[in-house]
Parts: sequence; C-alpha cells; structure tokens
Amino acid sequence: MESPISWFFEYFRASYFLMFSMAIVLLFFILKYLMRPRLWCECAICQAYIASSWSAKFPNLCDWYAHLIRNSPSQTIQIHVLGNIITANPENVEYILKTRFDNYPKGKLFSTILGDFLGRGIFNVDGDLWKFQRKMANLELGRISTRSYAFDIVQYEIETRLIPLLSSVAGKKDDGILDFQDVFRRFSFDCICRFSFGLDPKCLELSLPLSEFAVSFDLASRLSAERALTASPITWKIKRMLNVGSEKKLRKAIMIVNVLAKEVIKQRRKLGFSEDQDLLSRFMGIINDETYLRDIIVSFLLAGRDTIASTLTSFFWLLANHPEVEAAIKTEADRVIGCNKELTSCDQLSELEYLHAAIFESMRLYPPVQFDSKFSLEDDILPDRTLVKKGTRVTYHPYAMGRMENIWGSDCLVFKPERWLRDGVFFQENPFKYPVFQAGQRVCLGKDVALVELKSVAVSLLRRFHINLASETHHSTPRFSPGLTATFRGGLPVVVREREIL
Ligand code: HEM
Repeated sequence: MESPISWFFEYFRASYFLMFSMAIVLLFFILKYLMRPRLWCECAICQAYIASSWSAKFPNLCDWYAHLIRNSPSQTIQIHVLGNIITANPENVEYILKTRFDNYPKGKLFSTILGDFLGRGIFNVDGDLWKFQRKMANLELGRISTRSYAFDIVQYEIETRLIPLLSSVAGKKDDGILDFQDVFRRFSFDCICRFSFGLDPKCLELSLPLSEFAVSFDLASRLSAERALTASPITWKIKRMLNVGSEKKLRKAIMIVNVLAKEVIKQRRKLGFSEDQDLLSRFMGIINDETYLRDIIVSFLLAGRDTIASTLTSFFWLLANHPEVEAAIKTEADRVIGCNKELTSCDQLSELEYLHAAIFESMRLYPPVQFDSKFSLEDDILPDRTLVKKGTRVTYHPYAMGRMENIWGSDCLVFKPERWLRDGVFFQENPFKYPVFQAGQRVCLGKDVALVELKSVAVSLLRRFHINLASETHHSTPRFSPGLTATFRGGLPVVVREREIL
C-alpha cells in the first residue's frame, strides 16, 4: 500500500505538472495576442470603438457602422483594431462573393469561434465539405415540388397551432399580450424540423414547455456569437480551457444539443427513411458518421429557423408602424384569394406581388443576417481600391447597404414596398446591391421555401387579426441583441384582437 507521504508527493507532482502545462498554454495565447497586427490605433473610428462612445448617439453598432459607411466616399471603412474592412459597395460585394470567391472563404477565425456549435455543418466549412453539402441540399431544396411540400407543412402549423394560439389570447384584457418574437421562434422551429427532418417538436403547443432542444439551441447560438465580441479570442479560449463562466454554459448547452440531435437521427432511423423524403433522410442515405449528421442538423436548423423568426418579427413591427401598408396587403389578398375565403394554394401566394414587395422591403431595412465576414487568402485590391492584406477580415454589410442613398435613393430610410414594383409586378434588384440572401456561389438555398413561409404567415394573420404593439416604446428604432441573426432585445410584445370577418 502507498504511504501518505508518497501519495502526497505524487499528488504534488501531478498538480505541479498540470499547472506548468497550463502556464505554457497561457503564455502561448498571450504571445499570439501580442503578435496580432494592431493592438492600438489612434484614429477617431477606432477610439470610438474602443471607448464604445458611439453608443451615446446610435442605438446599435450596426447603425453606427451604417452612418460611417454612408459618409465614406468609397462606402468602405476600416476598424483597424479589429483588422476588419467593412463595405457596402455593391462592386466590392460582387468581387468578394463572385469574382474572387476563391480568395474569400469563411476562414479559420470564424470556423473556430463557431466550431464547437456548428462543427462541420454547411455554414462553417469551405472547400469540398461545403461543396458536398451544398450539392445534397440543392437536390432537395431545388426540386419543383419543394415549395408545395413547404406550403403544406406551414399551413398545417398555421391552422392547427398559430391561429388557435392567437385566438386564445385575442381580446383578453390581462393576458392578451403575446411576445411575437417568441411565438415566431417556436413556429419556425416546428416548421424547419418538420421540413428538414420529418419530425415535429411541437414547440408552438404552449401547453408543453419549450423543448429542451430549442432552449439549448438558442443558448448555444447566442453564446457562440458572443465569443466574437470578446476583444481577443484568447479570452474565450482560456475560459473554455478552464471550463468556467459562459464557456461552461456553452459546453453544457452544446452537450444537450448533441444528445437531442442524436435522438433526431435515431427517430428518423426508426421511422425509416428514403432519399426523397426530407433533407436529413437524403444525407442519412449517404453518411454514417453520427457527428457529421449532427453538424448538418444544427446548420439546417440555424438556416431555416432564426432567419424566418427574425424576418417575421421586424415585418410585423414595421406593419404596426405603417397601417397603410397593412391595408394594401389586405386589399391585395382579398382580390387574389377572395373575401372571406381561405388561402388554398402556393399559386395564390405567387400572385401576391405587393406582399412580396413588402417582405423584401422589410428585409432591406432589417436583414436577418446583418453582416457576413470572409477572410482574404492572399493580398488583394478591392474594386474601390481598398488594399486587403492576406488574412484580413472583409465584411459586407446588408444592414448598411439598405440605408445607402446611392443604392436606394434619397428616401432610402423610408419603408416603401412600391420601390420593388414595376407596373404592379415585383422586380428583383441586383443581388449584389441587396445581398440579404447572400449572392454569388454561396447564395441562400432556402429562399423560395422562406418566401412561402413568410407570405403564408403574413396573409393568414393579417386577415384574421388586428395586431398592435403593446407598448409605445416599441415605436422607436429596434435595439438588437448580439447573435448570429438579428433579434429584438426585449422581444416584440403585441396585443391581438380578432377581426370580424376574414
Ligand atoms: C428570410 C429567410 C432567410 C434568409 C434571409 C436567409 C439568408 C441566408 C444567408 C445570408 C446565407 C449565407 C450565410 C453564410 O454563408 O454565412 C444563407 C445560406 C443558406 N441558407 Fe438561407 N436564409 C433564409 C432562409 C432559409 C431557409 C428557410 C433555408 C432552408 C430551408 C435556408 C437554407 C440555407 C442554406 C442551406 C444556406 C447555405 C448556403 C451555402 O453556404 O452554400 N435559408 N441564407
């Protein structure tokens, strides 16, 4: 048997070794941090960024960036301390996303930040892994029947859950307030799970607690995005190594997501799958690696859930402030669908040109993905003559682009669906001026599905309910929480009343 003294020395040696290894790792991170291209910059923009003095005048960082970019002759700015070039110049955007696509991958920095959560899912990879997932997803999302498949799923969710939920609170004095953002997050979670995996998490059944999956998914998404806000990756990497604070919470949330994603795979196997059933079945027909399948599940949830919830939230916020647009949408719906008649087909949705324009206009001002960054592989020069050093982060900024006079004219800040119509028919703008769905090689694959979902919800709710903002404070500019997609801080509390006739 070991003596207590030798046990003590053994224990002391082991802890000493552990501390020594941690000190080496720490030293490595500190050196890496000190060797960053620029730690300090005296320029006014960087000073305002470091001191957060911009927040005295602007509600959100994206509003400050939009202001700076509007005042820049090239429509491009640089935040030197972040090593970030931010542009709203459509020629630059086309160059990054199409012309020199190969020089501007997602890059290692972000794939590391999001890696624990997204793994090797489509949003977090470049090269062959990306090409394979894109091809597979395109086979499913590019099918002609996909729109009507999505329409059936969405209609079921609207008729059996969304409308009954709103009716149950409509007109009630005390509990008639609903957080629409929360409702849309639950709604879109159900829809994307049914659409992509053929399974129903029933998040919108308010009698059931929000599924553990959805809660952990939200937390993991938010905490992963917050990593990008730390002054240096060293901060979150040390916290992750020590498993403390937000990193401890993130690890736990990801563990729950992993367990539940595996459960999704198990259920799908149990129910049986064939290639033309849903996205997950298509991938499962080819891939056996459970971790890779888990990554694919997480990316598709992120793609089709938060973007939809974000769009619907800002759309209903804008309509509450623009009753004339709401009235025009209703008039068009009555003409196309018929007064007192229900929406019955995808084709009817295609005829709703004004609604289509109103949704595009809403996303122009409030894009769900406010900015997107790439990293330059080689030294380069953008079309506006901005020099890009190898390894620099280059960000295109749809939020700022929606506020540029030279793209949208002097009324660029006005919510005006008519700007998208020519002789009453929707006219698609150049995607590099409006990269809300990205553009070029990595353009969103779910745009058509998204539009079916957004239009169905809009038309179904506006024809049945009066929806008003619950609080006067919600009339001012929205404030956003940090996250991978735009989220209203404090949600969107609304008061709902039933209309007398459809
Ligand atoms: C209003 C709704 C939506 C918006 C604004 C939107 C926007 C975007 C954006 C900006 C990207 C590029 C993201 C990046 O590379 O980091 C993207 C990619 C993607 N989206 Fe969407 N999306 C929406 C809905 C959907 C839906 C409903 C689906 C699926 C059913 C979907 C599937 C995808 C996929 C698979 C990609 C990856 C494309 C690639 O990397 O090659 N999206 N989307």
